[in-house]
Amino acid sequence: MSRIALYPGSFDPLTNGHISLVERGLDIFDEVIVAVAHNPNKTGLFSVEERLEIVREVFKTPRVKATTFQGLLVNFAKEMNAHAILRGLRSVGDFEYEYQMANMNRQLAPGLQTVFLMAEPDQFYVSSRLVKEVSSLGGDVTSVVPEPVLRRLAKIHNPSK
Ligand code: PNS
Repeated sequence: MSRIALYPGSFDPLTNGHISLVERGLDIFDEVIVAVAHNPNKTGLFSVEERLEIVREVFKTPRVKATTFQGLLVNFAKEMNAHAILRGLRSVGDFEYEYQMANMNRQLAPGLQTVFLMAEPDQFYVSSRLVKEVSSLGGDVTSVVPEPVLRRLAKIHNPSK
């Protein structure tokens, strides 16, 4: 039976930190489903479709799937036959938020485990929020996001090029 991890998030946009997490998740699970949360009340820099395209451009292996979901994560995890929820931890700041979510999810779906992987030491400062801020101000984010994201950021911030 193949072991499936569901990796949920906003991924607006996907960063090298997310990529590292998926790659390391594949050492533990047979399949990682990157699940882009669709929140109708929140408009992102990238549309959900663009975020999915980026994941599909980055991961060519059939062991990584990209999909979107709406509503409760635990319900979607059940629908996908996921064995665990996969999340990354960078800092103590992340911990409080993640601890709350993991325990709420545990309460909603006992038996569905949340597995945390620590961010790589050279990526602990990388976040989608900072990528958006730095790139909108003309900063170089080449070292922290993959090429499909860089290409799209360039189009947004330098549409004439
Ligand atoms: O990358 P993010 O934005 O920190 O991801 C947060 C996400 C999407 C994992 C979280 O908001 C979520 O699970 N949303 C789905 C709705 C839900 O189940 N909420 C209750 C979580 S305890």
